Amino acid sequence: MTKKQMPPVYHKTVLGTVYHADSLDVMKAMQPASVDLIMTSPPFGLTREKEYGNVREQAYLDWFKPFATAFREILKDSGSLVIDIGGAWKPGHPVRSLYHFKLLIMLCEEFGFHLAQDFYWWNPSKLPTPAEWVNVRRIRVKDGINTVWWLSKTEWPRASNRRVLQPYSPSMENLLTNGYKAKKRPSGHDISANFSVNNGAAIPPNLIAIPNTESNSAYMRYCQEKGVSPHPARFPSDLPEYFVRMLTDPGDMVFDPFAGSCVTGEVSERLGRRWACSELVDDYLNGALGRFVCPPVAQRPGPKDADAYYRVPRPGLLWNGADPIPLAGDGGRKRPASTGSKGKPTIKATKQGQATDPRLIATDAAT
Ligand SMILES: C[S@@+](CC[C@H](N)C(=O)[O-])C[C@H]1O[C@@H](n2cnc3c(N)ncnc32)[C@H](O)[C@@H]1O
Repeated sequence: MTKKQMPPVYHKTVLGTVYHADSLDVMKAMQPASVDLIMTSPPFGLTREKEYGNVREQAYLDWFKPFATAFREILKDSGSLVIDIGGAWKPGHPVRSLYHFKLLIMLCEEFGFHLAQDFYWWNPSKLPTPAEWVNVRRIRVKDGINTVWWLSKTEWPRASNRRVLQPYSPSMENLLTNGYKAKKRPSGHDISANFSVNNGAAIPPNLIAIPNTESNSAYMRYCQEKGVSPHPARFPSDLPEYFVRMLTDPGDMVFDPFAGSCVTGEVSERLGRRWACSELVDDYLNGALGRFVCPPVAQRPGPKDADAYYRVPRPGLLWNGADPIPLAGDGGRKRPASTGSKGKPTIKATKQGQATDPRLIATDAAT
C-alpha cells in the first residue's frame, strides 16, 4: 500500500489491519495481485426495499460491479474469492429473488471468474422466516441455507481438502470395521475395495452445517460491556475458518472488504495469516475491537460430543397415510383466519384423528 493513498487505519494487530473506510478505496491502495483469499459476506440484496423486482436486482448487480473489478485486480492468479450470500424473498410474494444467482453468473460471465465450487451453508438454528409463508399460510418451508460461492481467477486456485476433513459418520465407521464388498452400484459407479480403506477422516461434502447461535462469546460480552450493539448480520467464525484453512497457508494474505464485526480478521489472526479488512460503519468497528482486545480461543466440540453432528431427518418419516387436508386452490393467497388470542390453534379431530379445518392446521405453530 502506498503511503499517499492510505485510508484511515482503525486498528492494527500483529498480522492485520482494520480500515475504517470504503473498501473500494482500500483496494485502490493495495498492490495488484497481492491477496490470496477474499473472504466476505456482502450486504445482501435489498430485501427491505418496498419494490424488489428486476430493477432492484439490476441495481444490486450494478452496485457490485466496481467491487468485482477491484477483487480481480488485487487477487493473485492462484487466489480465491469466497462470497457468502443469503437468498431473498420478493416482498409481499411467496417467491424468491434470483439476485444471488445473477451475481454468480455476472461474476463468471462478465468478470471472468470461475466457479471453483458452490457451497451451501446450512444454519440449523435459522428461524422459519418469512413467518407469513412458513408458519401462517404453511405454503413454503424454512429457508435454512446461504449460498457460498467459491470463485477463482483461474481454473486452478490453491486449495486442499485435507484441511477440512471431518470425522467418519457412524455408518462409515461401521463399514470400515466390518468391511465392504466391492460391487457396482445401480448408478453404474464401481465402488472398489479402496472405499473401505480407513484414511482417518472423511472428505466433507459442499454442505457446511454451522449454527449461528453465538450468544456468550468474548465479542458479545465486549459489546455488552461497552454498550455497543453487536453487528446484526454476522457469520459464525467457523465459516471463514473453513475457507481460510482450505485455501491459504500461514503467512498468506486474506482480505474482507465488508468486514462488519471483523470475524474474518479474528480468524486469520488466530491461524497465522496476514489480513486486512474494511468497514464503513464505525459502530460495528467499535464492537469488532473486542475480537482483538480479548481474542477468543476457538472451542469446538470433539467428534464424540453430542452436538458434533447435525442430522437432517429423511423425508418420509411422517408420511404415513393419506394427506387429510387438500391443497388450497388459491395457492394460499387468502390468509387463514386468526387462531385466537394466544395464536395457538385448537385442532379439532375427527373420529379418525384427522384435523377438520385446514385453516387451523395452517396456523399451527410447529416449525
Ligand atoms: C453482511 S455484513 C458483514 C458481516 C461480517 N461478515 C460479520 O460477520 O460481522 C456487510 C457489511 O459490509 C459493510 N459495507 C457495505 N459497503 C461497504 C463498503 N463499500 N466498504 C466497507 N464496508 C462496507 C456494511 O456496513 C456491513 O457491516
